[in-house]
Amino acid sequence: MCGIMGYTGKKNSIPIVINGLKSLEYRGYDSAGIAYIYKNDIKIIKEKGRISNLENELEGDSSNTCIGHTRWATHGEPSRINAHPHKVGNITIVHNGIIENYNELKNKLIKEGYKFKSETDTEVACAIIDYYYKKLNDKIKVIEKLKDVLKGSYAFLILFQGDDKIYATKCGSPMIVASSMNGNFIASDIPAILSYTKEYFLLDEHDIAILDKDFIKFIKDGKEIKKEKLIFQFDTEVASKGGYKHFMLKEIHEEPKVVKDYLDYYFENFDLIPDISKYRKIQIVACGSAYHAGLIGKFLIEKYGSIEVNCYIASEYRYQLNFIDKNTLVILVSQSGETADTIASLRLAKKNKAKTLGIVNVVGSTIARECDSVIYINAGAEIAVATTKAYVNQVLTFSLIAYKLGLKNKLLTEDIKKEYYKLPNEISKMLKLDYHKLALKISKQNNVFFIGRLIDYYLCLEGSLKLKEISYIHSETYPAGELKHGTISLIDSGTIVISIVTDENISEKTVSNIKETKARGAYVILLKRDDIIVDETCYDEIIDIEKMSDLAMAILTIVPLQLLAYYVSDVKGLDIDKPKNLAKSVTVE
Ligand code: M6R
Repeated sequence: MCGIMGYTGKKNSIPIVINGLKSLEYRGYDSAGIAYIYKNDIKIIKEKGRISNLENELEGDSSNTCIGHTRWATHGEPSRINAHPHKVGNITIVHNGIIENYNELKNKLIKEGYKFKSETDTEVACAIIDYYYKKLNDKIKVIEKLKDVLKGSYAFLILFQGDDKIYATKCGSPMIVASSMNGNFIASDIPAILSYTKEYFLLDEHDIAILDKDFIKFIKDGKEIKKEKLIFQFDTEVASKGGYKHFMLKEIHEEPKVVKDYLDYYFENFDLIPDISKYRKIQIVACGSAYHAGLIGKFLIEKYGSIEVNCYIASEYRYQLNFIDKNTLVILVSQSGETADTIASLRLAKKNKAKTLGIVNVVGSTIARECDSVIYINAGAEIAVATTKAYVNQVLTFSLIAYKLGLKNKLLTEDIKKEYYKLPNEISKMLKLDYHKLALKISKQNNVFFIGRLIDYYLCLEGSLKLKEISYIHSETYPAGELKHGTISLIDSGTIVISIVTDENISEKTVSNIKETKARGAYVILLKRDDIIVDETCYDEIIDIEKMSDLAMAILTIVPLQLLAYYVSDVKGLDIDKPKNLAKSVTVE
């Protein structure tokens, strides 16, 4: 969370940093600011709201060195005063992360005579750097000291008064460094540098980077080190909407291709899909949509592998009793590979000697690097905060793991491959449906209910999250059989109930539950596998979905729900790619 960007070089750094910040706005967007070296001093400009607000405040200056920040508030409301950069004494910083012991440090610093203007943990970190700089008078020693003094997570860009270099370090928050003919860049994520270069270096925990106009230096434990240059594999096209109104719509429309490329690659390199049959205990750990993908993984692995699988929300897993040992496989699912709770769960699993497998999109991210092995989902850069194509490829990954188990257990034959290859075309058909009428109806609601059983329930969870996060319409998701244990009291005349029925083994049961809502006046939208026959009186609107194996069905069925959420939000005229209060990469607890 929070995007940071810095540049020092021959060009005017201010527009470069502003453009970089715009491409990082998905990481947080409640305020923004820059600090640049101007006439031997440091000038700070910051503003509440989007980067466009900050642009209105710019004074047309030119500078060769600038750092910038786009914020997702953790400590203190979104305001100009709480916005970054912060300056204390000789130090100016931008920060991504949370300093957990900031209160304790603040009290210590107040006793030393420091005064604070903002409510942020970042201003305290800035004062700590100033405090040690005054004591030690050595920039590298001060930065190295931070790992002993600060608790929590951070990626810092630091300007020292009178020095035109940018200093950086990180712990638990990502940071990349890149260079070009005209200068050097540092940022939280790759989109910020893509207009200049595809080559970058990744900072590891507690590395220090020093960016001068002409060189970059990396330091670890007091010594200069060399770092491997990495190359961003995807198309630079990713940073644009390619004619679509929103990134989310573009990313949903990329699904047929993303799925096809994934299938081509992994069927060609089937060894990369691990055989997990030797594990007797499997735990899947993730957050948000990745957790929902994990639930589908649980269903498919149990069915085709006959192995008990438990699925956990990472923010719970890291604090609960979990019976991990060296015979346990812990699967961590994360689009960004930087989700704080998922990283903490991974480290806990490793500490307890479990084997760890990452299902990750972002190449070289923390989870990808720290897991014993990784399957990249190859979904390409996902910019919209609401995940769509990455979720689809997470589910596809679990599906291929289950497929491998099914082959081994002789429950499946290679024939099923044909089913997978129907997916791109079937997804395209879903993209062509007209969702406007339904979207308009849903957009007028305050509450929507999603019901389904087993895998359909897991799909409902994801459909409901999509709707909530971008349309701000409250929705409840229930296993269909559970509704009458309390929640059915909320169903009234006209209440929208969205139900999924794709599993013929339990379709009759779900249909009975749908009828119970219908009898209480519900307006039912049914997503149904096309061969399952249901009585016409049990729904008001129907979306028929091509019959496929459940290994492929789960991937196809989510597409109409993603589009429905998108169009509801569009009807309401909301900021679809950047929903309020959210950020793409949740790097704080
Ligand atoms: O990067 P991750 O996959 O670890 O992120 C996990 C969740 O934060 C993420 O899936 C979130 O729920 C999405 N915004 C939902 O669309």
